[in-house]
Amino acid sequence: MPESAQTSVIGKPQPRIDGPLKVSGTAQYASDFHFPGMLYAVPVEATIANGKIQKLDTAAAEKMPGVRAVLHRANIGKISRSVMGKGFDGICIERRPPFEDDVVRYYGQYVALAVADTFEAAKGAADAVRVTYNKNKPNVEADLKADDDPDVVPTSYGPEKRLQSERGDPDAAFASAPVKLDQTYVTPAEHHNPIELQGATAMWDGDKLTIYEESQGIFNMRGVLAQMFGLPKENVRVITKFVGSGFGSKLWPWTHCALAVAAARQVGKPVKLVLSRKMMFQSVGHRARTQQRVRLGATAEGKLVSLQHDYVYHRSMLDNYHENCGEATAFQYSVPNLRVKFGRAQRNIGTPSDMRGPGAVPGLYATESAMNELADQLKIDPVKLRILNEPKIDESLGIPFSSRHLVECFELGLEKFDWSKRTPEVGSMKRDGLILGWGMAGCAWIAARFPAEASVHLRDDGTTRVACGTQDIGTGTYTILAQLAAEKTGVPLNRVEVALGDTSLPEGPVSGGSMVTGSIIPAVFAAADNAIASLLTVATSTPGSPFEKNKPADLAFEGGRVFVKANGSAGGVPFADLLRRANLRFVTGSGKSEASFGDPNPKFSTHSFGCHFAEVTWQPAIARLRVNRVVSVIDAGRIINPLAGRNQIEGAVVMGIGMALLEHTSYDQQSGAPINSNLADYIVAVNADVPKLEVHFVDFPDKEINELGARGIGEIGLAGIAAAITDAVHHATGVRVRELPVKIEHLLTSSVLA
Ligand code: MOS
Repeated sequence: MPESAQTSVIGKPQPRIDGPLKVSGTAQYASDFHFPGMLYAVPVEATIANGKIQKLDTAAAEKMPGVRAVLHRANIGKISRSVMGKGFDGICIERRPPFEDDVVRYYGQYVALAVADTFEAAKGAADAVRVTYNKNKPNVEADLKADDDPDVVPTSYGPEKRLQSERGDPDAAFASAPVKLDQTYVTPAEHHNPIELQGATAMWDGDKLTIYEESQGIFNMRGVLAQMFGLPKENVRVITKFVGSGFGSKLWPWTHCALAVAAARQVGKPVKLVLSRKMMFQSVGHRARTQQRVRLGATAEGKLVSLQHDYVYHRSMLDNYHENCGEATAFQYSVPNLRVKFGRAQRNIGTPSDMRGPGAVPGLYATESAMNELADQLKIDPVKLRILNEPKIDESLGIPFSSRHLVECFELGLEKFDWSKRTPEVGSMKRDGLILGWGMAGCAWIAARFPAEASVHLRDDGTTRVACGTQDIGTGTYTILAQLAAEKTGVPLNRVEVALGDTSLPEGPVSGGSMVTGSIIPAVFAAADNAIASLLTVATSTPGSPFEKNKPADLAFEGGRVFVKANGSAGGVPFADLLRRANLRFVTGSGKSEASFGDPNPKFSTHSFGCHFAEVTWQPAIARLRVNRVVSVIDAGRIINPLAGRNQIEGAVVMGIGMALLEHTSYDQQSGAPINSNLADYIVAVNADVPKLEVHFVDFPDKEINELGARGIGEIGLAGIAAAITDAVHHATGVRVRELPVKIEHLLTSSVLA
């Protein structure tokens, strides 16, 4: 890598290269594609959550103008199940293909599909389908008690996920601990709410299938569809050029994809199916509700002696998605005696799935809240308590951390937030007639590499093209790819073409786990090195080339120019000149990153770390609570693009404010429906709820992840923030809220008066 500091584009704030396309409305999202003869499909949603279809009457719907087909179990044709292949191939969280049986297991499950010339005609026909059910009372009970064998290991998508963990004798250590804490924390079901609705446009050409879908993992989707429709993988092409955010809801294919494909097969035309906002709350995943009991035992000085984390989460009737609340529990603190254990409770709900920071986000809300309560009990500063229990190694695996700088994060956070001014007594801090509450929490999030492949072209017009079949879900992957290619080829950013989001490209990683950046760096760099090696061969083998007399090993490439090493970089020749002289449009190279995710015997424990400090204001007279200030400090290795990195953390903190104070999905006990299934009733944090956010990165490259030391960034920002806010709420009001979100009614018991 050229270390010429003045030309490097790594670590510099770079505006999105795709920004102009987005703000000018020319970026094409999946449902923006139109095709001649395209038809529209609208699903019929079950209006019960538990029962059987008794009768499905499509006669009236079929007669409506413009209606081409009404599909249901008897006429949809074969859709097979997908199975998980090796790596990210065939993962489908809701495994039952649509219409496989006549059982309804959750509200909104698709029971039929209307296909028509226009969206309006399809919607009219869907509404005209008459369905009668044998109906049972749904179980959507909020209180969770484990109802299956907790020793059953869920089918998770990677061995990297720590499921249960135990060391020492946590029961005995807890029993004899001088200081004890035993509390239960509850997080509600939450729904991802990307503004871009999910949907698919599918079309067949003989036995070849093309689908436009806003996927966070196009290659996995290709594998799933190939299995469902009995096709060789190479006959399936998935295209996702832009994604209007996903937050995990678009990681894995949902049943509507199969419906669009089956409908297109039936009618022999392209079919577009876009979900309604209401459907987004029913059938494309959500964050599972959790109940987490945390028991901490400590010495009077605050040294942890025992940590137990027992959690239960809800799951759907058929599926096995694991909400891994213990993700960070086993390694975050030094503690000799520990147990992490889970149970599950089946409910008549749509299948839960990954939602931004899955597992760790609800998990750290519980464990970090418990640490704050313990600090309170011990009358120790919560930051000091954490530093006192900082581990030297990952005690759960007995291996070193590749790079852990949480203490440095705390130190910077203390300074930036001015934490030393905090007076610990509840209600003791005031400003402008408002009570102030200050709280904090730490966080962690997994880091690893997924397998990745990339190609780099050097072209005779002086441009370069980098291709990787990953996705940009709004996080800045287009720009990161351009930065990596520019760095290696010396081509300015505005002359780099980036191709992603298409399964015809080299296989890229899923946009999940905040792992794309860390995964693609070795692949792009190797691809560029191979393209440069080809160029040097061209340079020495082209008659009339200035390097005709040299061997490739004599040459060097830097800043887009080839030169003889012995002569230094002066007099280098631009690569475009060499290609034109050889009458070559381009040379190309391919590269690969090996996976580290799922390594059963890792040498290092790799994670990102960080902390949040939050200030709330409390106005007791009118029970008004606001988040007033947040300082976040993140250790995510080297930051490739500080502008996009900061944006990721800010976005996550906004979601964290929503998690702490606003977001929750309620299920109707009678119908089983998620009742606040729209953006008016499902409340997310908006600009008026968001104060000044301050984001800092500590800069410690993690060379175990890749040569640049970048671990990737995103989800870490949502971990811990809700615990910091609820701690601040306690500091201001004296009320410990242990069930999210914090509601005004929780705070009416506050003893703090103005
Ligand atoms: Mo993230 S939940 O891995 O999209």
